[in-house]
Amino acid sequence: MSHYPALRLRRTRASAWSRRLHAETVLTPADLIWPLFVSEGADEEPIASLPGVSRWSIANIVARTREARDLGIPCIALFPNTPAHLRSDDGAEAFNRDNLMCRAVKAIKDAVPEVGVLTDVALDPYTSHGHDGLVDAAGYVLNDATADVLVRQALVQAEAGADIVAPSDMMDGRIGLIREGLEGAGHGNVQIMSYAAKYASGFYGPFRDAVGSRGLLKGDKKTYQMDPANAEEAIREVALDIAEGADSVMVKPGLPYLDIIVRVKAEFGVPVFAYQVSGEYAMIEAAAAAGAGDRDALVLETLMAFKRAGCSGVLTYHAAHAARLLGA
Ligand code: PBG
Repeated sequence: MSHYPALRLRRTRASAWSRRLHAETVLTPADLIWPLFVSEGADEEPIASLPGVSRWSIANIVARTREARDLGIPCIALFPNTPAHLRSDDGAEAFNRDNLMCRAVKAIKDAVPEVGVLTDVALDPYTSHGHDGLVDAAGYVLNDATADVLVRQALVQAEAGADIVAPSDMMDGRIGLIREGLEGAGHGNVQIMSYAAKYASGFYGPFRDAVGSRGLLKGDKKTYQMDPANAEEAIREVALDIAEGADSVMVKPGLPYLDIIVRVKAEFGVPVFAYQVSGEYAMIEAAAAAGAGDRDALVLETLMAFKRAGCSGVLTYHAAHAARLLGA
């Protein structure tokens, strides 16, 4: 009698203990970075296009950070909703050392110093035109002039206590300038997580609602964010950012760009993070609300996919929920 097939790959899948034993990838709360929105306004302002996500007052951001700590989430990412009267063409509020962002960072680091704080370096929450940098008369986003402002922004964030500054603007050369600025100002241990391969994506809509830039944005961001058609260019972007002093690199959005994550990890072996962005979060929530999929399963499966692709961690609005599911 034939014993074919000798190898049954279903054998190791037959019970829960065995599936656990053979898992090639693990997902834990330590893999998560929780993006949070801070505002000057009410204690909690729900964001309609991002159901389940709110903007929080500084006091509540501190509470969310305590929650992150208690759930085993190592790091939060902060984004401000700047009051309209403080937005300007030159986005100068970005380097006001007493701005909303800096006050939030200080409050968090005073109260919950054991949680890492990642700050976003880009001008879009501060400009009246919604772009990530300074624009000329024709509306073109100026590279070098913007990079100088980003250095000033990163420095006030570092002074406030940011542990990781994360430039999300896609200007050329800004990582080197920020690294030099941080070293020069005595912030040699502040990390830079570079949004190295950030695509001009349709998945950022709810985020722009959250920071209040959607209605303001003139045109699109295609002259600085990457073309979704390109992968070789992502490798070149990452190579530059590492050479300029980035400690880790990010690929953004997440799921549609898993191929980029795999290639970056294989090519450079550096810590790679994915940003499962607002539109991805909204898609999962919409699918779950429509009965098209189980929310918890979708959340855990997508996060595991990032780990399998080679990520060190994932920025996700589902972080707290996922950490709870993971039994923190
Ligand atoms: C902009 C920035 C964006 C996000 C993070 N930083 C949006 C954009 O480039 O317009 C998007 C994050 C998300 O969609 O969750 N500096």
